[in-house]
Amino acid sequence: MSESLLQINDVASLQARCQQWRDAGERIAFVPTMGNLHEGHLQLVDLAKAKADRCIVSIFVNPTQFGPDEDFDKYPRTLEKDCELLKARGADLIFLPTVSDLYGDNISSDIHVPEELSNKLCAENRPGHFDGVATIVAKLLEAVKPNVAIFGNKDYQQVQVIQWLVKHLELKIKIIGAPIVREDDGLAMSSRNQYLTRAERQQASRLHQVLECIADGLIAGRRDFSDLEAEAAKVLNKTGWQVDYVQILDPNLAPPREKGRDFMILAAANLGVPRLIDNLRCIISAKSKNRK
Ligand code: PAJ
Repeated sequence: MSESLLQINDVASLQARCQQWRDAGERIAFVPTMGNLHEGHLQLVDLAKAKADRCIVSIFVNPTQFGPDEDFDKYPRTLEKDCELLKARGADLIFLPTVSDLYGDNISSDIHVPEELSNKLCAENRPGHFDGVATIVAKLLEAVKPNVAIFGNKDYQQVQVIQWLVKHLELKIKIIGAPIVREDDGLAMSSRNQYLTRAERQQASRLHQVLECIADGLIAGRRDFSDLEAEAAKVLNKTGWQVDYVQILDPNLAPPREKGRDFMILAAANLGVPRLIDNLRCIISAKSKNRK
């Protein structure tokens, strides 16, 4: 357990502390979050600690990435418990900025993600969402100036956006996409899972199951991508989900090739109130047929 968890609320103090660590030759890993931490977040902390000398976690519920009908006001805020979890996990510093610290009077997105990332998947039904994510992550990276920043592959499109952002801003920060952490029944951990009723929770692992079914189809040699997607969507729709998308793409989120051997299978759907997302990578090779 770390001796103490430093808590810093303003950018200037954060920058001063990071500079002290850099001057001492220490490498910094950064994990941005919106709080309400669960094991999915905490494994990013473990990875951060393995990759650097210091681990900084931010908690900031970012207004610009929520649409007008989304859950910004209701987003679960559980700071006390989050601090306990981070302390137990050995994080060094928790950064808790306010909206005005990061945005001043202008709560809007000044970074615009290119069309090839903002015309598909989660971006289609959440206009402006990734501009908001890119804007806040740019502000946070600028404040922390980490050597490494860790993001979860559960939000696979988000990781692609961050990779683009780092190139676009010419930042020398290594971005790591960490594996998805799941519940025992396969449901990807998410702060939004707590909105599920008990009955919905029993249904919720189906999202992961339909992705596995598509992977089985691909491994068996099927390349009728739209049929595979439609079959999965039908199963979900028939069992009470409202499907946003089920899509097979390549790892760069471009359309898959029939001769391709590396596929991303991605889905988003509402089950009652919460909108859940999940994905599965399916790599097919002559020797090994695996998925992550
Ligand atoms: P949040 O939803 O709090 O997630 C913080 C980080 O935890 C993200 O990188 C997300 O992909 C990762 N994560 C969440 N659940 C996970 C799981 N089950 N397995 C692995 N990683 C998981 O994503 C955001 O916040 C925000 O968009 C943010 C990047 C902080 C910008 O505001």
